[in-house]
Amino acid sequence: MRIEMTINGALCHADVPPMKPLLSVLREDLGFKGSKEGCGEGECGACSIIMDGRLVNACLVPAVQSSGCEILTIEGLGSPDNMDMLQKAFVSEGAVQCGFCTPGMVIAARALLEENPTPSLEEIKVALSGNICRCTGYEKIYNAVEKAVQDGYCDSFRTRENLCSGQTPTPTSENDSNCFIPEYLKEVFEILDKNKDVSILAGSTDIIPDIKNGKYTLNKIMDLSRVKELKGINKVGDAIRIGSCVTNGDIIRSSIIKNYLPAVWEAAFMSGAPAVQNRATVGGNLSAASGAADLPTILLPLDASVVTEGSGGVREMKLEKFILGYRQPDLKPNEIMREILIPLSKEKSIQRFYKRGSRKTLTLSRISLGFYAEVENGVIWEIRAAAGSMSPIPIRLKALESVLKMKRLTEELIDEAAKVAYDEVNPRKSSEWRKSMTSNLVKSFLKELL
Ligand SMILES: Cc1cc2nc3c(=O)[nH]c(=O)nc-3n(C[C@H](O)[C@H](O)[C@H](O)COP(=O)(O)OP(=O)(O)OC[C@H]3O[C@@H](n4cnc5c(N)ncnc54)[C@H](O)[C@@H]3O)c2cc1C
Ligand code: FES
Ligand code: FES
Repeated sequence: MRIEMTINGALCHADVPPMKPLLSVLREDLGFKGSKEGCGEGECGACSIIMDGRLVNACLVPAVQSSGCEILTIEGLGSPDNMDMLQKAFVSEGAVQCGFCTPGMVIAARALLEENPTPSLEEIKVALSGNICRCTGYEKIYNAVEKAVQDGYCDSFRTRENLCSGQTPTPTSENDSNCFIPEYLKEVFEILDKNKDVSILAGSTDIIPDIKNGKYTLNKIMDLSRVKELKGINKVGDAIRIGSCVTNGDIIRSSIIKNYLPAVWEAAFMSGAPAVQNRATVGGNLSAASGAADLPTILLPLDASVVTEGSGGVREMKLEKFILGYRQPDLKPNEIMREILIPLSKEKSIQRFYKRGSRKTLTLSRISLGFYAEVENGVIWEIRAAAGSMSPIPIRLKALESVLKMKRLTEELIDEAAKVAYDEVNPRKSSEWRKSMTSNLVKSFLKELL
């Protein structure tokens, strides 16, 4: 297909297969070799670019989803003879050794500074957490970002408007009959009705690694990510409604989520790193129907429902019912997930999400636990708990719930509950570690309630 986009202010186009990773399009078809390929699956950040104002991993963006977008690559900041202030700071602080990670680091830093011109050291660390450097060490890199801020970089860089050429690229799939880019839900349903074998792309962060690892190939595709009706986060009546194409990044930036659903905010914040968060959607996380996904672990205790829609109409079901089995969401062939619906929590309630993995950031959970409890006068009137990463799909901890519900919270009850949780989870790998960790986290949560 022919794709058209603005790269560093100039209109560019390429004739490429729709699922070709944008990183390969940039490097092989368009000659932008600054972005590097390390892992090719979103884990190293060497391919970082800014797309429509957000940091993304170019290796995880299929060409079709870059069509019509505005892209900033490292070449857009400066050249070796004419570096910008941020690039100069990396050199002067000794933040570059072999240089392989450097374009990605600089772009990740630039994305941070476009959003937050006065970041704290902690914010710099979070912003660069998806970028791996194997030889320099991170201190000098953080120093470089701080130096650029002190030197006034944020006042100096060209604004987004000035980067644009004035020409607008258009996303089009007219030249490829196997590729659809709808903008409205009505079109989505028409496409589904006429093309039974079409595969849906949202953020593609699950799909691209699966294709790369040879799990499947896609023949016909539909990009849902531009459908505006799937993107909002709204408080409507006594529920929060989250569109299926809302990304973890949108959740992290949402004041509604921060205020009403702090544990969902926590789960989104702990999923991947910023470049993955800016692509990974709620719909993709739940439709993947996997025990490794983080959001279901907290959405189950929060009693979330899933709304699906197709030309046959709308269905609403509890999330527990939607996840039928591993990789088996309850979606009919002509349906998509439209949104999730989370009832507002009671005033005297507490919600928590815990995750433990093999490292601090960019780690898949080895354990995740979600809790919702209503406590008044020392009595637990309502409690819901769920565990992820210990079985093929996330599970509600019903035995734990029944030992706690309608009980007065005491040290003895906490000990009993911790034992019940230990017995209730049944992980296949690292069984003893995961069981003990579950039991400890249940204890921590209940002690906090106490
Ligand atoms: C480096 C890296 C780190 C990661 N870390 C984490 C992590 O810490 N925690 C975690 O939970 N996940 C993690 N993931 C997995 C992934 O990012 C999430 O599962 C993400 O939410 C998937 O969403 P997506 O939009 O990218 O889905 P896609 O890849 O676009 O789609 C996934 C599946 O869902 C289907 N689908 C998507 N949207 C809809 C819809 N609206 N209706 C019907 N079907 C739909 C697609 O057809 C496909 O089958 C990570 C991935 C990577 C690459
Ligand atoms: S190449 Fe590693 S994140 Fe893209
Ligand atoms: S400078 Fe070599 S990997 Fe970072």
